[in-house]
Amino acid sequence: MAPPNGSRAWWQDCGSLERPRVRIPRSSTQRVRLPRTVTVIRRRSTIQVQDKYAVVMASSDWDPQQYARFASLRARPFWDLVDLIEIDIPIARLVDLGCGSGELTAALADRLRAGATLGIDSSPAMLEQAAAAARSAPRSIRFEQGDIASWTDDDVDLVVANASLQWVPDHPAVLARWVASLRPGGQIAVQVPANADHPSHTCSAAIAHREPFLSAFAGAPPPDPVAANVLRPEQYSELLHDLGCGDPHVRLQVYPQVMPTSHHVVDWTTGTSLTRFFARLPEELHQPFVEAYRAELIGEIGEHSPYFYAFKRILMRARVDR
Ligand SMILES: C[S@@+](CC[C@H](N)C(=O)[O-])C[C@H]1O[C@@H](n2cnc3c(N)ncnc32)[C@H](O)[C@@H]1O
Repeated sequence: MAPPNGSRAWWQDCGSLERPRVRIPRSSTQRVRLPRTVTVIRRRSTIQVQDKYAVVMASSDWDPQQYARFASLRARPFWDLVDLIEIDIPIARLVDLGCGSGELTAALADRLRAGATLGIDSSPAMLEQAAAAARSAPRSIRFEQGDIASWTDDDVDLVVANASLQWVPDHPAVLARWVASLRPGGQIAVQVPANADHPSHTCSAAIAHREPFLSAFAGAPPPDPVAANVLRPEQYSELLHDLGCGDPHVRLQVYPQVMPTSHHVVDWTTGTSLTRFFARLPEELHQPFVEAYRAELIGEIGEHSPYFYAFKRILMRARVDR
């Protein structure tokens, strides 16, 4: 990825935490208050927000509060992934791709005593939270808006991507760019959900193909990225090996997610997989979509209290030999 400040690379700027960077898309629609110290980068100009409102996309964006409702369940695979990282190798440069709201990035940087840390995400709402995480982090961290699908860099010690790779297609090409960004001996650690066959996913896809939603999607609802993009565990293993990682560790793990009731699965997916529908549906169809999905889902999984939500995930960690 090209250095954001002319010729200066990101790790050279990691000492100055006061101004985390947030890029605001032109298509933005909603006004929200940003922290005073956040620097907002528009496409061609940089402005300093001083107690003003900036325009950011929100209705079709991630909702950090909704996402954080199951923070401990969502954090568990992250820390399982971290446990796979070889920690006897110093981490001078850490990059967290699809960092979300940044709390886990900050905690990881602290745990690994990373020299310089960069978090990349495409969501203005998530980056706004990440800016706050950077301010209270004990170590030097920067957050930037970027697209993890095209991201590339040089001489990175560790690339981490927790629950983000599934949002982009063509994993062989994306992983090739990520591995190429590592220094010799550098590590990559990635976690993706692998539960596209669960009713929590199949029911929303079914509802999206019914009226009035199908017409609102102009006959083409957004596909499930987990179904479309996530490969089988053995394919990731082969891929990482072919990219020069001699001994990739790849495993499928089923997380025992005990929800208070079956209905809490709706809360869970509202913060993640349903966001792709909200991004395309008019506001007045959001709630009807959720309720139609709820009815379909409960019809499939039944009313339970608690509900055992078996959640498959793929964890992978590899070290590049070159
Ligand atoms: C499920 S959240 C995971 C956040 C964080 N890694 C964590 O473990 O809490 C997925 C994140 O990926 C980001 N994301 C999705 N597609 C992206 C893309 N193409 N480029 C950058 N970020 C992306 C979303 O904005 C979101 O913050």
